[in-house]
Amino acid sequence: MNAPAYQEGVLAHGTRGELERLRLLEELCDPTTTIVLERLGVAADWHCVEAGAGHGSIARWLATRCPDGRVTATDLDTALLDASPAPANLTVARHDVTRDDFPAGSQDLVHARALLGHLPDPQLALDRMAGWLAPGGRLVVEDPTYLPTAASPYPRFAELFDACQQLPARTHGTDHSWARRIPAAMARSGLTDIGMTIRVAVCGTDEKEDAFWRRCFAQATPGLIATGLMTAEQITAAVAHLDDPAFSDTAWMMVTCWGRRPS
Ligand SMILES: C[S@@+](CC[C@H](N)C(=O)[O-])C[C@H]1O[C@@H](n2cnc3c(N)ncnc32)[C@H](O)[C@@H]1O
Repeated sequence: MNAPAYQEGVLAHGTRGELERLRLLEELCDPTTTIVLERLGVAADWHCVEAGAGHGSIARWLATRCPDGRVTATDLDTALLDASPAPANLTVARHDVTRDDFPAGSQDLVHARALLGHLPDPQLALDRMAGWLAPGGRLVVEDPTYLPTAASPYPRFAELFDACQQLPARTHGTDHSWARRIPAAMARSGLTDIGMTIRVAVCGTDEKEDAFWRRCFAQATPGLIATGLMTAEQITAAVAHLDDPAFSDTAWMMVTCWGRRPS
């Protein structure tokens, strides 16, 4: 997907509810992200880039962990990026990860979550980010992927998840299968010490999780109807499952991968 396409699509920062969706995404995913970053040994003097920072929670977390270092939070559109109160070591920059660079070897950590799968050539972007790393520096890349929905006992809900997967693929070329290829892409990029962990989303049993999905479904609804992927009635029936106390299902997971530039 090219940069203008993201900014005009269903996840554009100007879309009603997108700030709330980004906040919910942070609440759900930050615990795994920060555990992984802690295990990698984020140090007080590290220089870090948070690419496609969104609302910026990980950039703010890194800024507290690297008081003697520097954190640069980048995004195509920084309007929703909350850098307040702005610590002296946190810089916000408009930056297109497909075109704009950092000096080679300048970073101890580069992190990108839910970004690369939206890009036309995720391997190329990963290669570029790996090039920003100093020897021994860490790259952490996270992207969501979908579980096969055919096994769901809730066909209407499964249909909605399928359609939500197809919509950004059709309109922007988002590739949700990319997430499973991240470790191989890191190896191809010359990184070592590669690891992977996965957080699976369960709908119907957790208020925060359901709030996130209600937000996603609401934002997707006009596009799903306009593209003919689903009717308003089908969407309403599928989302109604979330009101059923007996309902739980899973379809989506966040894949978190890390690698190290050889010393
Ligand atoms: C789904 S959001 C994820 C936000 C954040 N990383 C998180 O996980 O909470 C994707 C973010 O990537 C940004 N983005 C999309 N394409 C980009 C590009 N080519 N360069 C930089 N940022 C981009 C979007 O503006 C958006 O803020």
